[in-house]
Amino acid sequence: MKRPMRLRLLVAVGGLGLLASACGTERPLNTLDPAGPNAKIIDDLFNPIFFIAVIVFVLVQGVLIVIWRKFGVKGAESSADERPGTYADDVFPEQVHGNFKLEIGWTIVPAVFLAIVSVLTLLALFELEEVEAADDDLRVTVVGNQWWWEFQYHLDGNVETAPDFVTANEMVIPVDVEVPLWIESRDVIHSFWIPRLNGKKDAVPGRSHPWVIEASELGRFAGQCTEFCGLSHAYMQMYTEAVTQSDFDAWVAQQLTPQPALTEGDDNVVGQELFVTNCSRCHMIVGVTDTNGDEEVDGWDIYDGDSKFLAEGNLTAGAAPNLTHLMSRETFAGSFFDLYDESGEVNRDQLEAWVRNAPGEKPARNENLQGMPSFAGLSPEDLNAIVDYLETLQ
Ligand code: CUA
Repeated sequence: MKRPMRLRLLVAVGGLGLLASACGTERPLNTLDPAGPNAKIIDDLFNPIFFIAVIVFVLVQGVLIVIWRKFGVKGAESSADERPGTYADDVFPEQVHGNFKLEIGWTIVPAVFLAIVSVLTLLALFELEEVEAADDDLRVTVVGNQWWWEFQYHLDGNVETAPDFVTANEMVIPVDVEVPLWIESRDVIHSFWIPRLNGKKDAVPGRSHPWVIEASELGRFAGQCTEFCGLSHAYMQMYTEAVTQSDFDAWVAQQLTPQPALTEGDDNVVGQELFVTNCSRCHMIVGVTDTNGDEEVDGWDIYDGDSKFLAEGNLTAGAAPNLTHLMSRETFAGSFFDLYDESGEVNRDQLEAWVRNAPGEKPARNENLQGMPSFAGLSPEDLNAIVDYLETLQ
């Protein structure tokens, strides 16, 4: 085999290998396997356009190869060598100018292809915009943060008032129900993307972008922030979980229940106190107030109106994931770490490592209030007590 041929084969095999490895991850982000009507609209657009692109590719490359084989310079020694198909560098083949039919043809054919592609694309875009849910149906405000996602649930569909409850990184929805979303951001531009359920929608500070999510099968669908948003962009992941209506109702009832506030003598009351002292400036737990009885830990008012866009540099409870019923989730820290291992045990080592030194687990720039700061100064006993307390947030 000639060397350039071998090199080409090597590149091709290597490329295919890389391509295949992208499909085999534990969190498949698969756009080719739609699990909801919106993803299906996109897939139904992708397939014909891919087909058209293949035809164009074959035609263009085919013509290119024919021209190359027929008219390419084939190393003739001199212009004296006049066998057909062989030309010396200084001899041009016969030139053709002004073929009217040819020029009209190669203008019209691409125009027709492009017209078909645009019409199909516009039809799909209009279809994706359609919202069938009633005004008082469930709506979720999705807020991008460096580097995690917040989901504010409005059970009555009214996004102008404070949400009924808030969760992070994992959005639970009932199957076969269209859930309208408002996509927003607290800091920089992110992009919300659950590939098996719908396309991408940017989360832009100061704006609310309408979007919908719907799953037509039960399951847990992986997502990824898809707009570069700083150091931990690659680790800003999320899930949408589609459950039956009765499971959804049970989940909502659980999320609406405040956590019990522990009092003197309760197990883990020390952990709760340490949490309030060290963590409640950013993290909210509904049902738990600070030592003065102020609602620093469950201050819902920050979600009202414009204050859901927190002032710059103003970290307050709510600027970090709401930890109410933390243990009902399967992941934490932008869904990058599993909360439970395969046997169902709490992933205690990882949770401790995260609380102790978050920037050591995921890149962050805390001097700019990006990401969770390190708590390496806590004593091992205090750290233990805090993690023990977190484990009670069932
Ligand atoms: Cu958020 Cu990338």
